[in-house]
Order: sequence, then structure tokens, then C-alpha cells
Amino acid sequence: MNKVHWQSPSNIALVKYWGKHGVQLPSNPNLSFSLSECNTSTELQWKEGNGRVDLVLNGESKERYTARIRDYIRSIDSQFPMLMELDLHIDSTNTFPHSAGIASSASAMSSLALCLCSMEEEITGKKLPEDKFFQRASNIARLGSGSAARSVYGGFVSWGKSDKLPGSSDKYGSPLPFEVHESFSDLRDTILIVDERIKPVSSRAGHKRMAKHPYAQQRFKLARKNFADLTEALKKGDDPNFIRIVEAEALGLHSLMMSSNPGYVLLKANTMNIIHRIRAFRELSCIPFCYTLDAGPNVHLLYHDNDSSELEEFITEELLLYCSDKYRIDDHIGTGPKKL
Ligand code: PMV
Repeated sequence: MNKVHWQSPSNIALVKYWGKHGVQLPSNPNLSFSLSECNTSTELQWKEGNGRVDLVLNGESKERYTARIRDYIRSIDSQFPMLMELDLHIDSTNTFPHSAGIASSASAMSSLALCLCSMEEEITGKKLPEDKFFQRASNIARLGSGSAARSVYGGFVSWGKSDKLPGSSDKYGSPLPFEVHESFSDLRDTILIVDERIKPVSSRAGHKRMAKHPYAQQRFKLARKNFADLTEALKKGDDPNFIRIVEAEALGLHSLMMSSNPGYVLLKANTMNIIHRIRAFRELSCIPFCYTLDAGPNVHLLYHDNDSSELEEFITEELLLYCSDKYRIDDHIGTGPKKL
């Protein structure tokens, strides 16, 4: 068997992608940074065959995920005409526990997309220029999971067409085309695990509910403004605006879930306890740190590296009390995928 191997990071969105149209196209431009420690490593093996796909995830074959990957591979066969004449064996491992309530689809689908693009290059012998290779991988990753479009790059990454960003596209993500202020280059993310169980409503179902959401148009307009304002804050190293926008996006995401039809709540009492503690301690300490939320109850605490020792006591003494078994994952902004 021939094989390729990629490791790709998870990411955390600062301006959220929530709502889509067409074939996995985002309803608003969105922006994240890639993590470093939370990543998926995927090895793809192939041989001549007739379209068989096997998946091993964290050392086990799981029918539910295998079915999803088979559907995905079938859905992209027009992009890779050779796929139906190959048998694929996919072996994926997450560095973070699968049940930790951290979006693993972004790192899983981006590492698989990178493997597929590398496999294509090996089979055809045709190499794309590096920027086009990653653009193609991002487009292929998007078709598996929207947020995965951003995980094929390191640092701050946007996805979705914006008048403010030349070169941006709904089809693929791209690294921000300007220099981010150096004060944001060391961003840390301590993920506070409030509840590690699989969430009751998937992101896929959540995106769907945006189609008839009463506040949808208002949301997309606001997200475009938050996107434009956040890019300015990133350029200038503007902590107050960064904090204001990132927290508004986190609460905004969850208020969209609560006000959809039917509405639902993914936040837990301890998510709210952590948020209140963060606000109180920020006011007291004047340290510029904040929180964001993914589509789940866990809290991402974002702060500058040089504030980490001052925040450590607050995290261990106050915030971990609200976590499941004092469970935390310490991560930081990362440099992007690696071919292994
Ligand atoms: O990529 P999906 O379809 O799992 O959706 C991700 C949605 C959020 O994680 C809530 C927001 C985002 O932009 O990553």
C-alpha cells in the first residue's frame, strides 16, 4: 500500500460560522485561530480497488463515523476522479480525548483533506504550487465540515467572502492577508471542560435551524460588522475591542440556539458560573483576558502568554471548581498542519 500522513490542528472561532447555504457555503465571513496541542493525525493508505473505505479512529473502527466518511468520500468523487478505482484505509488519532467536547471535526476533516490532496499529487505526479495546494485542501475540507476549511493553516484564519479582505472566498479559508499585531501572536487558550458528553443537538442540526431563524438576516449583518471590527482590533493590538467582540460572538452564538425553532440550550450552570467569575476577576485585576464558547458548554479562556502566571492561581483556585473532574486542556495559537 502507498501512504501519506498529515497532522492538522483544531481551531477556535472568534467570529462564528453559524448558518450556511448552497453546498457548505458560510452565511457570513468568520475568523478563528488554529490551536497547537489539540490536533488530529491521519494516515491515508491506498491501493487499486473499487471504492472501499475503512476507517480506524483512535485505534477502533466505529460504524457511525465510518458511514459519515464513506458519504463524504462519495460526495467528493467528482473532485478526485481516481477515488472509485481505489480502496482507502484511513487511520486517525486525536491528541485530545474524543469525548472532551472539543470540535474534532475541524482537525479530522482538514487532516483527511490534506491526505487526499497529497495522494492525488503522488498518483498524478502533478504538484500544485504550495498556496494552491492549501487552497484546494481547504476547499475539500470545507465539504466535510465548514470549520475544517480554516484548519489547513496556522495562526489567524478567515473563511468566507468579505469586502474588507482581498482574496477571501466562500469556498476556502485563507490566512489573514495582513500582519496581526505582535501582542496577539502568543495567544493562549485554556479549555475548561464543564461537560465532556456528546452534545444533544449537533452543529449540523444547528446550522439547519438558521435557515428559518427569525433573526438570521440581522445575525449575518452583525457578524459581518464583527468580522470587520475584529480584523481592525487584530491589526492594532486593541485588547478592549478584541474582548468585546469575542465575548459578544460567544453569547450571540448561544442566543441563536436558544431562539431557534425549536430552541435549545447547550450551556450548563457551570458555564455561566465560569463566565461570571471571569467578568468579576477581569474587573478586579485589569488583566485583558476573555472567554469564548464553541457549540457546547465548555469555556475557552483566551489570554496573553505574559499574563499566564498571574491567571494561573485564578484558574486553579476558582475556575477549575466548575469543571468536570477539574479537567482543563492548555493550548495556544499554533503554526498549522504538518506533513509527517
Ligand atoms: O464546522 P461545523 O459544521 O462543525 O460548524 C462549526 C460551528 C462552530 O464551531 C460553532 C463555529 C465555528 O465557526 O467554528
